[in-house]
Amino acid sequence: MSLPTEATEVIFERVPEGDGEIKTDVSKPDSTFALKTTKLNTELKDGQLLIKTLYLSNDPTQRTWLRKQGNNARSYIPPVYEGNVMESLGLGEVLESKSEKYSKGDIVSGRINWADYAILPDVKIFNKIDTKQGLPLPYYLSVLGMTSLTAFFGLTEAGQLHKYLKEKPEDGKGPIVCVSAASGAVGSTVVQIAKHLLGASKVIGLAGSDEKCKWVEKIGADLCVNYKNSDYQSKIKDFLGDSYVDVYFDNVGGSILSFLLSNMKKFGRVAACGSISGYSDPKLAYVTTWFEIVAQCITVEGFLVSNYKDKFPEAIKVLGDAIKDKKIDVDDSIHIEELKGNSPDERLSEIPKIWNLLFSGDKPHGKLLIKVA
Ligand SMILES: NC(=O)c1ccc[n+]([C@@H]2O[C@H](COP(=O)([O-])OP(=O)(O)OC[C@H]3O[C@@H](n4cnc5c(N)ncnc54)[C@H](OP(=O)(O)O)[C@@H]3O)[C@@H](O)[C@H]2O)c1
Repeated sequence: MSLPTEATEVIFERVPEGDGEIKTDVSKPDSTFALKTTKLNTELKDGQLLIKTLYLSNDPTQRTWLRKQGNNARSYIPPVYEGNVMESLGLGEVLESKSEKYSKGDIVSGRINWADYAILPDVKIFNKIDTKQGLPLPYYLSVLGMTSLTAFFGLTEAGQLHKYLKEKPEDGKGPIVCVSAASGAVGSTVVQIAKHLLGASKVIGLAGSDEKCKWVEKIGADLCVNYKNSDYQSKIKDFLGDSYVDVYFDNVGGSILSFLLSNMKKFGRVAACGSISGYSDPKLAYVTTWFEIVAQCITVEGFLVSNYKDKFPEAIKVLGDAIKDKKIDVDDSIHIEELKGNSPDERLSEIPKIWNLLFSGDKPHGKLLIKVA
């Protein structure tokens, strides 16, 4: 097969202004993104790989990568500056290699481009996928990837869930766990791990539609409330009765976090995973109940999944077993959008729209992936 000589790329064109709304129609002059065709120099330099993009992960954190050139404010991960190709976690096939770490034909996971092809330095690649295991590739971006690891370590490390378990908890005496964005990729895995692996007595979820709530209850939550309804707080309070939440896994920040802080048990823990409510407009993530942290001696622990990378292999083993034992749903937890269109331009122009579903309320439940090839 002859190697590609050009790539179609989605460029991050301009930082969203005002309320931070992402504009996804690349044909419009005010779009956040633009399409570009770039020549590929297939005479690779040492350490470079020619990658064909297979799958792209859609992650809310990509919203926090978008920066103006020259904005060097601290960041936990390299940002993407205006004028550069947009990036994401993803899987690709190595078409050509001048790297000692990866060979032609390898399927690799890493931080790759919103593009059909790319020449990348091998430092952007995290690992080679062991295809001999015969598992579907999307698993490596979802149930066996960062998503599940975030849920697992958020509960066990930041949330210290085991601290709330008696050695042999009597039935119904395990801790109460609550999670926001519960129908999402991380949140839905939190529900299942807390309920089916870690002995939570009750799991409460919050999600953005009645349909999503039904699914969250189907996979293990005892209660899931639609936070867009005005009675969501009273529903949680009625459910709790005289009890309080031991561990709150916070994906959203803002008013939901403020409410949950007022409903935590004394010495409870908040695993601060994300604050998606404020990624476009930081004011929406403000917290109004800070004193609860003092009065109820609550520990709030922020975490990045990468903090625990040395423990990834043991966690993947636990998660793999849980999938085999059907304690974690796989089939209904991954939603794949396949790019459609006759030309690379038509196909690649779909990517921003699909990614933006994360923020629009229209995202299907579970992990949202894009199949590029
Ligand atoms: N700390 C880490 O290492 C780490 C790693 C991965 C992810 N994260 C964080 O984990 C969170 C979930 O990520 P994910 O990949 O699993 O995405 P996801 O949940 O699959 O998608 C995002 C979800 O957030 C919900 N959402 C959007 N705007 C919201 C708002 N204003 N208020 C409440 N919910 C809102 C939407 O669900 P509804 O339809 O229910 O509104 C949407 O489905 C994010 O905050 C992300 O940044 C952190």
